[in-house]
Amino acid sequence: MNQYLESSLPSLRVRTLTAADLDFADSVRALAGWNQTRADWERFLALEPGGCFLAEWNGTPAGTATATLYGPELAWIGMVLVHPDFRRCGIGRALLERCVAYLRGRGVGCIKLDATPAGRLVYDRLGFRSEWSLKRWVGRPVGAKLDAPKSKLRPWEESDAARVESLDAAAFGVSRRALLGALAEESTAALVMESAASGIAGFGFARAGSQALYLGPVVADSAQAGLGLVEALIARHPKETFYWDIPDPNEAAVDWARQHGLNVQRPLIRMFLGENSAPGDPLRQFALAGPEVG
Ligand SMILES: CC(C)(COP(=O)(O)OP(=O)(O)OC[C@H]1O[C@@H](n2cnc3c(N)ncnc32)[C@H](O)[C@@H]1OP(=O)(O)O)[C@@H](O)C(=O)NCCC(=O)NCCS
Repeated sequence: MNQYLESSLPSLRVRTLTAADLDFADSVRALAGWNQTRADWERFLALEPGGCFLAEWNGTPAGTATATLYGPELAWIGMVLVHPDFRRCGIGRALLERCVAYLRGRGVGCIKLDATPAGRLVYDRLGFRSEWSLKRWVGRPVGAKLDAPKSKLRPWEESDAARVESLDAAAFGVSRRALLGALAEESTAALVMESAASGIAGFGFARAGSQALYLGPVVADSAQAGLGLVEALIARHPKETFYWDIPDPNEAAVDWARQHGLNVQRPLIRMFLGENSAPGDPLRQFALAGPEVG
């Protein structure tokens, strides 16, 4: 092959994402209309610097993906974004394959993600299977009771990341201790609901997004505690529009969202690759931490 033909071939390179790439990363996030902020990218880099990737097409930044490692049983892939000018060139697939190779190299047994309908087309072909569906609900809640039992509610403290660990692992599948500690610091409200019987009945956060306030995660051992936390978080932001990702199986949370005037913005599907050995319990997940982290 002569030199001209060789250099005219498109070249795809996937490399580690660094802080210097965050302007591009956040611009491709904004183009997709997603709600994350620069703080989300910075957290991904802080928690798993070797698991954040950038794709270059002929030397031009073209796409991103991030991996979050919760432990040997479970890891998450998120922020799979390809610039609209470079779609259908195999970049999304290459980013996914790189994340999967990275996580398998770290000995992870199960990899999950929350797929948009567009992403699902890529993940199906890589062998990901569906676990359950969820929806993004959006709106400014109307008619919320907003008088949750205040005596049982208190602000999150740093030591709560350890105290809620078993409750969170029962809901999510594995411990998210490092992530919860980081998210709590970024939150505009972070609450714990105590219970005489079990110590801690639930916890919930809300944090700023680039489009709307993000409600989640909210994890609780009962619908009463979960919805009490939802109401308390909403009461602390009475004028805000919320984004709230709810597992479809959690009918108590879905009914609450519907009855209080929220609307479905888009469907998502939780998918997994490998053996789903720590499935968790969507009935205890009243709000995701975010599709990009689970
Ligand atoms: C989803 C997304 C990441 C796909 O990136 P991409 O680089 O275009 O995907 P690829 O070119 O690697 O596609 C791999 C395969 O997935 C399937 N696929 C991808 N996009 C598709 C589409 N729009 N229609 C039908 N099939 C599609 C095809 O089988 C494709 O292989 P092919 O082109 O050889 O037929 C990209 O469309 C995107 O950034 N969308 C907006 C953000 C988003 O939804 N991200 C997913 C989050 S879960």
